[in-house]
Amino acid sequence: MHPSTPTSTSEAKTLWSPTSWRSKPIVQAPSYEDAAALAAVEERLHRYPPLVFAGEARRLKKRLAAASRGEAFVLQGGACAESFDEFTADIVRDTFRVLLQMAVVLTYAAKVPVVKIGRMAGQYAKPRSSATETKDGVTLPCYRGDIINGPAFTPEARYADPTRMETGYFQSAGVMNLLRAFAHGGYANLHEVHRWNLGFVERSPLSARYSDIAQRIDETLSFLRACGIDGASAQIDETEFFTSHEALLLPYEQALTRVDSTSGEYYDCSAHFLWIGDRTRQPDGAHVEFLRGVQNPIGIKVGPTTTVGDLERLLDILNPNDEPGRISLISRMGKDKVRDLLPPLLDAVNRTGRTVTWLCDPMHGNTTTTSNKIKTRAFENILGEVLGFFDVFAQAGRRPGGIHLEMTGQDVTECIGGAQCLTEADLGDRYETFCDPRLNAEQSLEMAFLLAHELTARQG
Ligand code: PEP
Ligand code: CO
Repeated sequence: MHPSTPTSTSEAKTLWSPTSWRSKPIVQAPSYEDAAALAAVEERLHRYPPLVFAGEARRLKKRLAAASRGEAFVLQGGACAESFDEFTADIVRDTFRVLLQMAVVLTYAAKVPVVKIGRMAGQYAKPRSSATETKDGVTLPCYRGDIINGPAFTPEARYADPTRMETGYFQSAGVMNLLRAFAHGGYANLHEVHRWNLGFVERSPLSARYSDIAQRIDETLSFLRACGIDGASAQIDETEFFTSHEALLLPYEQALTRVDSTSGEYYDCSAHFLWIGDRTRQPDGAHVEFLRGVQNPIGIKVGPTTTVGDLERLLDILNPNDEPGRISLISRMGKDKVRDLLPPLLDAVNRTGRTVTWLCDPMHGNTTTTSNKIKTRAFENILGEVLGFFDVFAQAGRRPGGIHLEMTGQDVTECIGGAQCLTEADLGDRYETFCDPRLNAEQSLEMAFLLAHELTARQG
């Protein structure tokens, strides 16, 4: 037992139930006007099949525990917000494909196993800075993500409609089904490594660098075959791919929570990994209360306002037995702050002897607004935060656990910079995000090469 574990924790734990969050203060929650419609949807969702199994979440925990020891690297990525309108095979395939490519680059170049987690199959709810939005003198509720309301600026779209939770469930099931098929049905077979190159990236120099790695992997596989070592094994034919989203909409998360028949413990079966956002991590609040009782691996966003005291308290509440792989701390400080703000938090966690997996989210602390009021992020700032994060770990003599990115397999123009040298003037071309700006496929692949380079250089 950990020295700083409060004695009351086990007692408090017995008081947890899937509904205990309801008596805690909650922020960022929509107000549903039709209580009967809400209850009916919750009741139906509660009877539907789980989207993931507890055993899969436990496997991910083991992988994350390996990353906490520096024996694996986590690549978590996907849209800021998935959209109901973008429910197509191509969009899912392209993001999956870029994540596979990035994982190949990291595995081959930096020689680390990569734990792949999509911000996919359920990333539909968004925390917002203001509960309302005003345009031309008209004030409406803010858009909170497709699982709650719609983005159009009309009273109808902005109405919090509980039946959207059911749509979210079915779309998550559709995306999950396709991801499972891609991961296990042949698409992710390493022999297909050349085919993951996306058409529009082909013209770029990155494509040649990727093809070079793909070629070398092909040669290695042929060599192994010639030696009589059978190239067919689960590690080569398939891949492990996990899903994640922010556990923001608690009625939905509660309805998908099930008792695992193997362990008798509760799991939130809406995704393998769930995280608590920077705006909902109050130790006494509803989101922390809900997540402390489900046994999934969970993430906590750690921003510039997180104090050492907050962090220690959150770790006591959410991981009283210090189970490895249970907690990933996702640092999102901003490129100018990470070198100052992260070391005291890292030191404090190290001092308590706690096991956590540290991930770097270099997106949310580096959002800027152009003179035309468009939200963007500069590739060099994103990279700057990653380098700062890596430096902090190098100085502490530890290995970073991984990276958390907002990205897409589409050829969008939302973040400036990168190998294509996108400028503010290009943002109008294909600015498609419903929320924050994402790295496009080429920028994501470039990030993977730069990460691989840094990881290799720091391994010495
Ligand atoms: C997010 O990950 O989309 C997000 C809102 O992040 P944060 O809670 O760190 O601001
Ligand atoms: Co975001």
